[in-house]
Formats: sequence, structure tokens, C-alpha cells
Amino acid sequence: MTYERPNIARMTGYTPGEQPDGGGVIKLNTNENPYPPSDAVMRALQTIDGDALRRYPHPDALAFRRAAAELHGVEADRIIATNGGDELLRLVITTFVEPGKPIGITRPSYSLYPVLAAIQDAPLATVDLHDDWSMPEDLARQWNDAGAQLAFIVNPHAPSGTLYGVELLKQIAGAFAGVLVIDEAYADFVDPDLNYSSIDLTKQYDNVVLLRTMSKGYSLAGLRFGYGIGSKGLIETMTTKTKDSYPTDAIAQALAGAAIGDQPGAAETWQAVRGERRRLTAELVTLGFGVSRSQSNFVLATIPPAVAGGAKGLYEALKSRNILVRYFDSERLTDKLRISVGSPEENTALLKALRELM
Ligand SMILES: Cc1ncc(COP(=O)(O)O)c(C=O)c1O
Repeated sequence: MTYERPNIARMTGYTPGEQPDGGGVIKLNTNENPYPPSDAVMRALQTIDGDALRRYPHPDALAFRRAAAELHGVEADRIIATNGGDELLRLVITTFVEPGKPIGITRPSYSLYPVLAAIQDAPLATVDLHDDWSMPEDLARQWNDAGAQLAFIVNPHAPSGTLYGVELLKQIAGAFAGVLVIDEAYADFVDPDLNYSSIDLTKQYDNVVLLRTMSKGYSLAGLRFGYGIGSKGLIETMTTKTKDSYPTDAIAQALAGAAIGDQPGAAETWQAVRGERRRLTAELVTLGFGVSRSQSNFVLATIPPAVAGGAKGLYEALKSRNILVRYFDSERLTDKLRISVGSPEENTALLKALRELM
């Protein structure tokens, strides 16, 4: 006898990247920032007192939302704070997708999207990306034809790191009939020379929600704090009707606020990651890997055909040397490894191991 809903019984859950217990592991598998949180965050941690824990936190993380609003040049009531970006993904589905209606995704993309759709028992409207990870021109039409009420685009794209331009996103937002979630988990690492900013889309279109997270750009994956930016209507619905009562805790609110208030501290890490991303890409190419141009804090490396055991074998060989990278046993990715950009020392150790193994 099972008590599970039939769709839950049928589904498989999300497979997170390995989180090893002990030290001594070079961890390049879950796209964490290789640098510590800023000093401002660690100072804020010291000031948490018992009273802040005795009481409930602010239900809507108002102080954080005000700081984020100032940073992005929007009103605070167009921002919602969530327990990591992942909670926002779940929230947009439960708020905007009717039971049984489809959710649009591109393939490949973040492997959590299909899991969240399965929990909702929502069919997927899956559109394959081209071989260079660009999106088909009729993406929005395909989603509309399938009746999708919500769709996810991840930008920069995961797992390739490809950055889509704002003009393209604008066309899709205008053409798509449902809510378009642009998942910008890695946007902090985009080269500033590219002038990427999608905030205006949330002003021009009432169907766009941007996802941001403190996990990557602000070195706070352990804190679980993310936020969404969107039109007043979309954000208000989630804030007043569907969000949890207190989704972000008092410590998280205080630390996320300190982090977003220290832009120079975070930006220093983004700049260092960009430099190492260039080096890692160049050296992997020299070793014979195919590497797509990444604007993120990871690279997707295609294994040279001559490597015995392929991507899986290389992943295992690296693991036996205490170096973790990400192998996806899924369509179009089985000959690739996704490698997070680590610190200079970590990247050097990875490259040394690869040279020896290949
Ligand atoms: C594409 C993408 N979106 C969203 C997230 C959510 O991150 P978090 O829940 O840590 O904010 C991740 C985390 O790995 C991600 O890769």
C-alpha cells in the first residue's frame, strides 16, 4: 500500500551534487563560489542576538528587499525573498500553473525543473536547444502551442554557461502567453563589458520573473537565500497568497542584507572567477577538450573522443584523486563534464590531474 500520490510514486527526485563530509576534497561539482563571504557578512553574524532568534523574523524580509530594490533600481514591492532560489522555482509553479497544465523548459537546462514539474504533476513542454546551445527561433510558439502556463529559461544557461542577449529574451517574453521565469542564478559572473541587464524586462512585461540567488555570487550557498524580481502583480500574488509564512529565517535575512550591501566585496570574487574562467577554458582547450564560451562560474567541457572511459571514466578517475566535478547521465551530456571554476590553486590541481590522466 502506498500513500503517495500516483505522480509522486512515478517520479524520481532531484540528484544533488555530492557534498563530502571530510576535508581534503577539491570540490568543483556544485558551482559554489570558491571565495569566502565578505567580511561584512561575517561581522553581521557576530551581531545576531538571542532576541532575534526568540522572535519570528520579518515575514517578507523587508530590510533585505529594500536593499535589493536599491541595487536593482526597482520598488521593494516588486521583490520577493525566498529560501534559496530553488524555493522561488517551486513557488512560481504552485502559484501560476493550474493542475495538469504544462510547464515549458529547454533541454538541457537545470535538472531541478523537471523534478518540480513532476511534483506538480505537470507535463513538460520540452524544446531542444541547438547544438551550440542557442534557442530555436520559435521557442515561445512551441510553448504556446503546448499550452504551457509557465516556462523557465536559465541565463547564463546551465550547464553550458552560454549567455543569451536581452533582445532575444524580450522577444520571448512578448511572444510567450504564460509566465516567463528567467533564472539568473549565475548572472553575477557575466563579464561587465557585455552590459547585460534584464531588469527592464520586468518593467516592460507583466509576465516576467527574474530569479537571483545569494548562493553563488555572494558565497552563501549554505545560507539558503534567493529572491525574485517581477511585475507588481506577479510578486504581490506570491507574497500575499502562496509563499510560506516565514520562508527566510532571521539569521539568513541579516546575513543576506549584509552581503548585498557590500557590492565591492562580492564583485571582487566575480572578477577573480572571470579571470580563472578564462584560464581554465584556455588550458582545457589546449588539453583537447571542447569548451563552450561560459559567462558563468562553471565550464562545460566535452571530452576528447580518444579518452578511454569517456566523461564518466574521467569523472571517476578525478574522484579517486579527491577532485569532484559534475557528470550528468542525461541526454546530450554523457560526453561532457561540468566543472565549477575554483580558486587558482584548485584549478591548477585539476589541470595537473587531467594532464596526468589523459
Ligand atoms: C540554474 C540554477 N538555478 C537556481 C539555482 C538555485 O540555487 P539556490 O537554491 O542555492 O539559490 C541553482 C543552483 O544550483 C541553479 O544552478
